[in-house]
Amino acid sequence: MPDQAPAHITDGPQFSENWFEHNIPHWQRWLGDFRGRCGLRALEIGSFEGRSTLWLCENILTADDCRIDCVDLFTQDPVYGDYHARFRRNIAAHAHKIVEHAGYSFDALRKVEGEFDIVYIDGWHSAFGAMADGVMSWPPTLSSGQDMTPSAIAPKAECQPSI
Ligand SMILES: C[S@@+](CC[C@H](N)C(=O)[O-])C[C@H]1O[C@@H](n2cnc3c(N)ncnc32)[C@H](O)[C@@H]1O
Repeated sequence: MPDQAPAHITDGPQFSENWFEHNIPHWQRWLGDFRGRCGLRALEIGSFEGRSTLWLCENILTADDCRIDCVDLFTQDPVYGDYHARFRRNIAAHAHKIVEHAGYSFDALRKVEGEFDIVYIDGWHSAFGAMADGVMSWPPTLSSGQDMTPSAIAPKAECQPSI
């Protein structure tokens, strides 16, 4: 018997990479108080196949009127192929919560309208890319919001200048 059923006969989400699950204990701690709240708004930069998107929808953005803006290139990839199609399939049960922004974050972040309770930055991982996404997503983040990159979390209220 193979370890896994062939992809075409599995019903669950299908992912080629696991760049997310190590975050779960931290996110449960940081975001637990948000769980179940109505009208939450999240912004995710770098959605790929929807692993982090799905976790947020199933565990934090559980109320039906929550929304998550997903920014990604969502284009054909030389290694991962049509990962956008897998994103769509994986988050299908939560499609009503998702607003897609296909393209570079630099362009999308000039157009998204906040305010966001949660921001996850997981797109272009260069120092410049992560910093630029952080800077551009700062204004539309609520002062009570959480701004997260893979290496840091910042409750915005604690980072306001004190002058
Ligand atoms: C590490 S993956 C995201 C993983 C995802 N959060 C998860 O949990 O599986 C990074 C994603 O960011 C996208 N990306 C990279 N640079 C980007 C940019 N400048 N603007 C928008 N998306 C970008 C890539 O296409 C890729 O899908």
